[in-house]
Amino acid sequence: MMTKVLHIEHLQKNFGNFKALKDISFDVNSGEVFAFIGPNSAGKSTTIRIILGLLRKTAGIVEVFGEDAFKKPVEIHRKLVYVPGDIYLWP
Ligand SMILES: Nc1ncnc2c1ncn2[C@@H]1O[C@H](COP(=O)(O)OP(=O)(O)O)[C@@H](O)[C@H]1O
Ligand SMILES: [Mg+2]
Repeated sequence: MMTKVLHIEHLQKNFGNFKALKDISFDVNSGEVFAFIGPNSAGKSTTIRIILGLLRKTAGIVEVFGEDAFKKPVEIHRKLVYVPGDIYLWP
């Protein structure tokens, strides 16, 4: 059975007056391998930070395992693993 793992609908993110994400929509189902690619500054990291509940969206729907990414991060993070490419550790 295909389960919806990620649901993003009309996602927008502004940093002040700057519109970093204008209208992002996509779904990822269980069993799918999904590549989220784009040029520098396209908004990939911003989108992923919103999915992880680290950043608050401006508008739209972001659900992981059917739960709101910002309201239910503890439940969601029990079931996901994130490997950052742009990791910074302490000195
Ligand atoms: N915290 C922030 N404050 C202001 N602007 C930001 C912030 N984070 C990202 N941006 C801007 O949002 C845009 C998307 O950035 P980002 O999501 O890092 O892109 P990508 O990961 O695709 O390279 C860029 O123009 C970037 O400068
Ligand atoms: Mg990035």
